[in-house]
Amino acid sequence: MSGFDSIRPYRWDGEVLHLLDQRRLPHQATEVRCHSCADVSRAIAAMVIRGAPAIGIAAAFGAVLAYRQAESPEQRDVLLADLRRARPTAVNLAWALERIAALDTDDALLVEREAAAIAAEDLAANRAMGELGAGLLEPGCGVLTHCNTGSLATGGFGTALGVIRRAWERGLVGAVYATETRPWLQGARLTAWELQEDGIPATLLADSAAALLMREGRVRWVIVGADRVAANGDVANKIGTYGLAIAARYHGAGFMVVAPTSTVDMGVGGGGEIPVEHRPGDELLALDGHRLAAAGAEGWNPVFDITPAELVDVLVTERGLVHRPSVSSMACLFEDTEE
Ligand code: MRU
Repeated sequence: MSGFDSIRPYRWDGEVLHLLDQRRLPHQATEVRCHSCADVSRAIAAMVIRGAPAIGIAAAFGAVLAYRQAESPEQRDVLLADLRRARPTAVNLAWALERIAALDTDDALLVEREAAAIAAEDLAANRAMGELGAGLLEPGCGVLTHCNTGSLATGGFGTALGVIRRAWERGLVGAVYATETRPWLQGARLTAWELQEDGIPATLLADSAAALLMREGRVRWVIVGADRVAANGDVANKIGTYGLAIAARYHGAGFMVVAPTSTVDMGVGGGGEIPVEHRPGDELLALDGHRLAAAGAEGWNPVFDITPAELVDVLVTERGLVHRPSVSSMACLFEDTEE
């Protein structure tokens, strides 16, 4: 591994998928070992591994276990259907399983090769996007990121955090701000830890402080990842992204979405068609298992929101930049690869 990229969220040893338990980071670095496809489904649903591309990679190795262990094609299909349902918004999960289904094989060795290719391609895409996105930044600029989009959320290096890593390496970043990202605190726990590990100084803020930070002129770019990008450029990402995009437009900051084409779903016309995952309200009412909210209060916990394409200044993919995404500019991204 090269500099500014020292973390991986998974390890495949040929038999077992080892997942760094992201629920316990940064205070404990423990592993969850997945010996079966059902183990992988449970780990994804429970947030042991999270972040759209990382979920896709874990699912691909989960599929390898299903191909090896299922006693019949019917049983395998049931396991794969459960895996596909583990988290509904991140399209990389369905995308990875569709890529494996398209092999049209019963040979688990071929499936294992495909899973390894999915992981390797994701890392390469992140490096390419890091370069392209960093090229948009002016020296000394302040950047704000949301959730965790780094090595932990991908095959390595990261999407939005990959751009920040690369821009930092090139001496372009004046300050990195990270939202804490309620309720799972991916920003406070994971992004801050990743940046710390790479020696990149970062300042955390409450999600609700972002608009003031922009008003003070400290943010030139808001840089986020995506769980799914629709064919018209609408973006599903961590809850709070939509508010950041509105605040960025109001305050004259740029809004950059960094996502590989594996996160683009040309099968959905607009954000309204993207399924938004709602998780139990309890996740909002307690911290580390300790109830904080008043007894009797209920929680509303959508974990993603949709940012309309008109608020996106640029979408960075491994195939190139899409400025002000639209139906036609999104279609261009895939023009050369349509069959
Ligand atoms: O609920 P999570 O932690 O899986 O949400 C992750 C995000 O919203 C990320 O921004 C997105 O997956 C892009 S990660 C490269």
